[in-house]
Amino acid sequence: MAIDGPSGTGKSTTARILAEKLNFIYIDSGAMYRAITFELLKNNIKPNDIKKIVDITTKADIKFDGEEVFLNGKNITKEIRSLDVTSKVSSVSAIKDVRKILVNKQREYAKTNDVVMDGRDIGTVVFPNAKFKFFLVCDLKTRAARRRQDFIEHGMKLPIEKIMAELKKRDTIDSTRKESPLKKAKDAVEVNTTNMIIEEQVNYLLRIVNGLD
Ligand code: DC
Repeated sequence: MAIDGPSGTGKSTTARILAEKLNFIYIDSGAMYRAITFELLKNNIKPNDIKKIVDITTKADIKFDGEEVFLNGKNITKEIRSLDVTSKVSSVSAIKDVRKILVNKQREYAKTNDVVMDGRDIGTVVFPNAKFKFFLVCDLKTRAARRRQDFIEHGMKLPIEKIMAELKKRDTIDSTRKESPLKKAKDAVEVNTTNMIIEEQVNYLLRIVNGLD
């Protein structure tokens, strides 16, 4: 199952709950791009040092355990949500070689498991033959308000304008990049989550999966 859409539309939470209900494995592909971004920043690798970037991405062993993300055996769940990683991840994910390597890793997860994967190019590039494809959308202000609440829960209070600007910037990079830009697959079901709470989103998608809608 592929769930795509811009940041803050509730993809990850919806995907995680759906996977649990369907007994599928949940893979957060955005966390993989974040893990690489974290590693590049940690090692001070310059954006134009493609050789090192490819080396780090190829060697990256990314594992998921529930909500926890591990890179080369180290738990990096918190680190990949930092403001620094968040502000750089769109540029890293626009690098062709990084995408090629991570897409292969994403396909590996699905070889032996039923997966729900969320991201930007899952229904268009990673799994064009996915059995179910959803594309979540939501207005910018609501997305920013949701993100703000997430930050508050993690002990950070940020002005909504700053979050809106950050989301808008990421949307632009993600949807205008040359490699696998964010776009709805022709056969994806578009779901506008602006006026939905998570439970409603999950139930809406479940009804479609179960053939009730
Ligand atoms: O879903 P997220 O916000 O954690 O994703 C972080 C970034 O990774 C996002 O700005 C775009 C990129 N990304 C991508 O290019 N392709 C994916 N399949 C998933 C994420």
